[in-house]
Amino acid sequence: MTDGLSFPELCVPAVSRRPALILRPWRAADIPALAAEMSREYPTAGMWPGPDERQARAALPGGARSRTGPAGERAAARWLVSQDRGWRDGDRLSFAVLRADDAGGCVLAGNVGLKNREQTGRIGERETAEIGYWTAVAARGRGIAPAAVRAVTDWVFDAFAGTTLRQIMLVHDVANPASCRVAEKAGYPFRELSPANPPHWLTDGHIHVRGRRAESQPL
Ligand SMILES: CC(C)(COP(=O)(O)OP(=O)(O)OC[C@H]1O[C@@H](n2cnc3c(N)ncnc32)[C@H](O)[C@@H]1OP(=O)(O)O)[C@@H](O)C(=O)NCCC(=O)NCCS
Repeated sequence: MTDGLSFPELCVPAVSRRPALILRPWRAADIPALAAEMSREYPTAGMWPGPDERQARAALPGGARSRTGPAGERAAARWLVSQDRGWRDGDRLSFAVLRADDAGGCVLAGNVGLKNREQTGRIGERETAEIGYWTAVAARGRGIAPAAVRAVTDWVFDAFAGTTLRQIMLVHDVANPASCRVAEKAGYPFRELSPANPPHWLTDGHIHVRGRRAESQPL
């Protein structure tokens, strides 16, 4: 990690129904909330795949038991270790997204992560990075993911100004219109269809791309 990038903290003010957000690297204290959140959609096929992909996964060796995220506190802890390693090595930069709760504290609202599209090298050493995200079930529908994606995108272009990083790609399943809306609202215009390419990408997807200058106004 370059000095000064190790522990960024991004603040997003509240607007309308969207609460104020704080984005920062994951911490060990987040493990119980992470494990609890993941367990809501995770048990059968993981948190991210859409319905078509779940069927395709079920047909693979390991079937629906193959997992894409933490299954409990021990697995959540392992996932956090890999996110720490990502910050240290500079090749995977993940942010916990927190929102204020009624008691004056913060609760987990989601995740936004960046990696290089080619899966290798530090962010800033390749032209194209890829962004991924999820929002906690109870926090959905309040514009949290678009705001968090926009904040991380602005941060990474700023923090890696002068590097080879030129654009960020956002890929989602065609059967995930909510994610398509996140892309549009975060300033990632649709670029092209991405046909299924098993075993890497099991269903048709949309590729959205944002360059250094956002193509839509902040929400
Ligand atoms: C996709 C996802 C990140 C959207 O996050 P969010 O913070 O709810 O984003 P928004 O509030 O902007 O809502 C986006 C869309 O979700 C849908 N939505 C609205 N309320 C919702 C709710 N309570 N529950 C689920 N989806 C809802 C709407 O289609 C909305 O679009 P709209 O603004 O045109 O109405 C979230 O649904 C999620 O985590 N899904 C599972 C993980 C996932 O698919 N990640 C992306 C992988 S590419």
